Amino acid sequence: MKKRVLTGDRPTGRLHIGHFLGSLRNRVEMQETHDQFVLIANVQALTDNFDDPGRVKDSILELLCDYYAVGIDFDKTTVFIQSEVPQIHEIFVYLANFVTIQQVSHNPTIKTELKQKRMEKSTPLGFFMYPVHQAADILCVRADLVPVGKDQAPMVEGTRDLAKKFNEMYGKAVLTEPEAVYGVEKNVPGVDGNEKMGKSLNNAIYLGDSRDELRKKVFLVYTDPNRIHADDPGSVEGNIAFTYHDLFNSDKSEVEDLKSRYRAGKVGDVVVKERLFEVMDEFLSPIREKRREAEERKQELLEKALEGSKKVREIADEVVGEMKEAMKIKF
Ligand code: TRP
Repeated sequence: MKKRVLTGDRPTGRLHIGHFLGSLRNRVEMQETHDQFVLIANVQALTDNFDDPGRVKDSILELLCDYYAVGIDFDKTTVFIQSEVPQIHEIFVYLANFVTIQQVSHNPTIKTELKQKRMEKSTPLGFFMYPVHQAADILCVRADLVPVGKDQAPMVEGTRDLAKKFNEMYGKAVLTEPEAVYGVEKNVPGVDGNEKMGKSLNNAIYLGDSRDELRKKVFLVYTDPNRIHADDPGSVEGNIAFTYHDLFNSDKSEVEDLKSRYRAGKVGDVVVKERLFEVMDEFLSPIREKRREAEERKQELLEKALEGSKKVREIADEVVGEMKEAMKIKF
């Protein structure tokens, strides 16, 4: 039996190269070896975007195209949409008995997000509850494994804890306790040098960017601000052109050569960036091509996600049934 793995994305925009290196690439591999589920968390996305539902809706199609473009195979991976699986909300309500308000307020991810979103003084309950709702995402398919980045680790820990408490309380292994899987953390900084790439920071290179957009962004990449002339010795540390070379240029000796010439003031930014553009374009071209194909087939991909949602409803129905049985509310 293959192990079951679940990951998810909030539909709030297109996916970028940081998403590719951080998770998409891993999903393409996992679909061959695992029973993989990918959740489009549109209800969760509403918790901090309820004033912009159109964006959440449109982003679902963008995500589907991005998935297809990088090689997620909808016949191997079950892609599903959160709002199509109301059992998640039901499981969430039952789980809520097993966690305190104090525990959620100490969740490091929630703390950081409340600060970032300036919601510390006035916290919407919907947003505050999302870690418990996310636990229901994971438990509704009986996931064994949840590959996550460090920022989502407390969510998976919380899920394990909830499952364990529920099972112990009712003396039966009803819920599957999931394990977090941490990949090699690849931090992909934004083109502006910000340590995170993100759409709100306006510093991302998207999987669907055209050649021209890519070129423009590569030439705007933050390098060494102290280097004024091409023959000044330059720094490669914190120099995003070199960070991207390290990530995308498979010719390591070329990268080392460029670095040493850059340090010695023997190669200019333009040459480094021109080569970076070529390398990144080589990487993005096939993805861009497949993305164009996906855009022609959006409706078909949505159908697939709705079929996936139906399959998840059936699994989640069983989980709900067993939970109700354990809680003596099943008639
Ligand atoms: N919170 C995740 C994020 O912002 C998205 C998500 C929702 C998720 N449900 C999930 C991730 C379940 C893993 C498992 O990226």
